[in-house]
Amino acid sequence: MVQSSRRMSFHDLLPPQQSMLDEVLASLGQPQKELSPKFFYDARGCELFEAICSLSEYYPTRAELSIMRKYAGAMARMLGRDCTLIEIGCGNSEKTRALLKELEPRVFVAVDIAQAQLEASCNALADSFPHMRVVAVRADFAHEFNLPAAELGNGRRVLYFPGSTIGNFTPSEARGFLARWAPLLGPGGGALIGVDLKKDPAVLNAAYNDAQGVTAEFNLNVLRNINHELNADFDLIAFRHNARYSAAEGRIEMHLESLRAQRVTLAGRVLEFRAGETIHTENSYKYDLAEFTALAQTVGFEARANWTDDDRLFSVHYFTLP
Ligand code: AVI
Repeated sequence: MVQSSRRMSFHDLLPPQQSMLDEVLASLGQPQKELSPKFFYDARGCELFEAICSLSEYYPTRAELSIMRKYAGAMARMLGRDCTLIEIGCGNSEKTRALLKELEPRVFVAVDIAQAQLEASCNALADSFPHMRVVAVRADFAHEFNLPAAELGNGRRVLYFPGSTIGNFTPSEARGFLARWAPLLGPGGGALIGVDLKKDPAVLNAAYNDAQGVTAEFNLNVLRNINHELNADFDLIAFRHNARYSAAEGRIEMHLESLRAQRVTLAGRVLEFRAGETIHTENSYKYDLAEFTALAQTVGFEARANWTDDDRLFSVHYFTLP
């Protein structure tokens, strides 16, 4: 589906509902049950994620925003004004605004799975930056999809992937993601990527186990979303949020733990849970600067610069393609 106005267009490239059902049944059918973190982001999940971003324990948003406010001018000079900026995951638009003010791209493409948030943030950006064409693409960016090439203009293409969302991929998925983007960006294209840094596990564990329980509600909301979208009957009070840092894996793992033996019905199928059995809902990988640079280099990206906040909690990396 494509809707267009003079300065903004909207493309819905999300596969139909059947593929959500197939994916959820397959991932809950594995010995370690899983759900993709993309299913967090229904309207309520987007609200909860916004609330997480302002929690005192959740440092990444503040740290990344401080980097963007301080270095957006330097970044814009490296990216090159008049480029086509393609943002993946339109989360907190304050960071994007800091960059857009300096960069003044001709075309801004926003790719996200959450339609309401995508449309709202693109409309607001189109109003604030009247000389910029805004292209909204609803797509599952964990998989391949076709960018609306005719709308991208002929500026240099630069991928902007903020928020440390790349950390929600395994390192091998992150390499696959970057390798898929390389031909779309083309020779000379760039990538500006927000990456959370390794740090004291106590800080990490607190960030994913906030005192108000917002992250717990965000995690449990995935079950509410599956109930609503796929006619399931998960009992939310029979599951508990569980998040912990594994230093061996370099990641926060989020799980939902079944508090008792129970059966759940999903689209007519029965799923069995043992007491204590978990659904793995998210990985959030943390890197050090050299590790992430090496990851991107293995798929042909050349490191140009990286910036960190004063407390070295978070980093933003800039790469180009030869
Ligand atoms: C979107 N993503 C980068 C967040 C993270 O930190 O991995 C999602 C999140 N999960 C729990 N809190 C925030």
